[in-house]
Amino acid sequence: MSVFEDRFRARYGASEVPVPAASSALIEQLLTHKSVRAYRPDPVSDDQLSAIIAAAESAASSSNLQVWSVVAVRSQATRDALAECAGGQVHVREAPLQLVWLADLARLEMISTALERPNAALDYTEMFVTAVIDAALAAQNATAAAESLGLSTVYIGGMRNRPEEVAALLGLPPKVFAVFGMCVGYEDDARPASVKPRPPQSVVLHRERYSLADQQAGIDAYNAAMAAFYTEQKMNVRGDWGIHSSKRIAGPETLSGRDRLVDALHALGFSLK
Ligand SMILES: Cc1cc2nc3c(=O)[nH]c(=O)nc-3n(C[C@H](O)[C@H](O)[C@H](O)COP(=O)(O)O)c2cc1C
Repeated sequence: MSVFEDRFRARYGASEVPVPAASSALIEQLLTHKSVRAYRPDPVSDDQLSAIIAAAESAASSSNLQVWSVVAVRSQATRDALAECAGGQVHVREAPLQLVWLADLARLEMISTALERPNAALDYTEMFVTAVIDAALAAQNATAAAESLGLSTVYIGGMRNRPEEVAALLGLPPKVFAVFGMCVGYEDDARPASVKPRPPQSVVLHRERYSLADQQAGIDAYNAAMAAFYTEQKMNVRGDWGIHSSKRIAGPETLSGRDRLVDALHALGFSLK
């Protein structure tokens, strides 16, 4: 079996899945992605950071507005404080570098104000969504780039648990919001992570028209694959993927404080009209 076939099957946690004839070194690398939550203290160099940021900046940007930024945090004290904001996640303390990805409308506000031009569109939800998309696209390029350098990452959505505190810690001006953090560092081989299976393509790929009903067989297969994965990984997850995901959306109390996100965004200067 080729490396590509091996990785393709591992991605779906299935030996039966048909492997496509099209492949590339990039796809082969993307197939190995795994979130890592155990890091060695070895630092990420400034050269590595610069290469990662060049990859991030290579992402597309809506109308080339570049409404995103990123704060690179190496300070242990700040990482500890960010870890607390994110629900006490130990890997945020542990990873030597935390990249906090920002939806950033402040830069355009500053530029347009200096040009004495109106900028009322910044107050609309559309511009907020645009900035979140820009930040996410840049961040995912950064993840792939970091992994290609032998580094590991994990996104930290917990950064949205207490947005105002994160903003204060990082000195964010109004109209800048931390969309998520990202641990970057070298995986501790003594505590390795595994590639987590994904739903079969029949769940996510629709041809010409969307269908919910056509997804059921794939969802059933994925539930079985994830139940096996949870057991194999000795993860403390009861039931299967559907049950696990349903618990996560049960109500506002399951959102780790993010049920008040709209209020937080208003406080941070986003009108969301
Ligand atoms: C936007 C975003 C936020 C996430 N937030 C967290 C987080 O706060 N803590 C964490 O341990 N993992 C977090 N993750 C990682 C997901 O749990 C992980 O990507 C998912 O379980 C799939 O596993 P994999 O990345 O290993 O394939 C986040 C992922 C994304 C995309």
